[in-house]
Amino acid sequence: MFSGQRILLIVSGGIAAYKSLELIRRLREGGATVRCILTRAGAEFVTPLSLAALSGDKVYDDLFSLTDEAEMGHIELSRDADLLVVAPASADLLAKMATGQADDLATTALLATDKPILVAPAMNVRMWEHAATQANMALLDERGVLSVGPSEGEMACGEFGFGRLAEPEEIAAAIADFFRSNNRLRGTRALVTSGPTYEAIDPVRYIANRSSGRQGHAIADALSRLGAETTLISGPTGLGDPPGVRVVRVESAEDMMAACQAALPVGVAVCAAAVADWKVTSANPQKLKKDGGLPRLDLAPNPDILASLSAAGTERPALVIGFAAETENVIEHAKAKRAKKGCDWILANDVGPATGTFGGARNRIHMIDDRGVEAWPVMTKTAVAAELAERIADHLAAGSGKGPAARRGKTAA
Ligand code: C5P
Repeated sequence: MFSGQRILLIVSGGIAAYKSLELIRRLREGGATVRCILTRAGAEFVTPLSLAALSGDKVYDDLFSLTDEAEMGHIELSRDADLLVVAPASADLLAKMATGQADDLATTALLATDKPILVAPAMNVRMWEHAATQANMALLDERGVLSVGPSEGEMACGEFGFGRLAEPEEIAAAIADFFRSNNRLRGTRALVTSGPTYEAIDPVRYIANRSSGRQGHAIADALSRLGAETTLISGPTGLGDPPGVRVVRVESAEDMMAACQAALPVGVAVCAAAVADWKVTSANPQKLKKDGGLPRLDLAPNPDILASLSAAGTERPALVIGFAAETENVIEHAKAKRAKKGCDWILANDVGPATGTFGGARNRIHMIDDRGVEAWPVMTKTAVAAELAERIADHLAAGSGKGPAARRGKTAA
């Protein structure tokens, strides 16, 4: 089940730390190599000796140990792993992950990695339900950190509710799921556009729009997590680069178009960028002066990247997906857009001011393909991206005869 997979298991403090021993046993039985980091608080509940005995390796527990750093530094520990698993993940460790603290070996390894991370939270129910913990989890989720549990039940502190560490078999199943899906798009090249474009008026001023790039970046991240060799072509955003993704930064629609063409051939293209419809043909090489009178801006249409990828002849990606950001008659407009642009799927979303879609964390999608319209429930942009990536993998697998058939209806409202 885990043959050849390398897991770095981080055990933080909590009464449930003893369950990590059973988890290691299961992972090793399944063929994984397990290396352990034990936090200082974790060592109050489980001994380094038992972790070492079960993992068959030494236990790493001190950031500043000269021998540890010489043999296997904190960077190598995470570089050497296919997946980092934090079980149990205490409220404190989750907070440190959310805020990027790095004051011991566990947090340093977690901050220094670009590898996927799965957390299994365990804590008192009130700590779990506290707005701070929930906000930390939402942030980690948005960054693509996977999680399993916690489950509901009686706790060591005598209270009842959510906060119990997921059982070792559930954590092992979540890890198995991860490795299964992680390979689904291996060998597929993907192209994603994201963010706004800036159309220069002069060297200082530009025309732009409110796109944050969050949805496009999340899609590039999700495709890469399924193993696709992903190029993200992004207009200016305040977002970091998704790990493992090749990022090409552009400003104008014309630059974005050129970068897209240079990225071909790809198996799938997702155009999530909010490309400016017009460019300023009269852009001034110097800053326009206010006392020069009202400037005259001559506009010309920008190239349509989605339409041109859809009509790219032999270079056409097997699957071309566009977005339709609308403020009214969302489905009607999106259907017309799909026909006009010639793409395969359109993901329509309502970006009216009341929806909070632009710049927000959530999105409500209607997916339109040749079979009709499907309403997805309101989801975080990360969840939309993960769902879309799975559907892309389903579609490409069905097309290549590798099955499974499309999972249509899974999220249908
Ligand atoms: O025409 P409209 O901007 O509404 O279409 C939205 C879809 O088309 C999005 O997928 C967007 O990324 C794409 N698009 C594009 N190039 C343009 C305009 C839009 O790729 N110039």
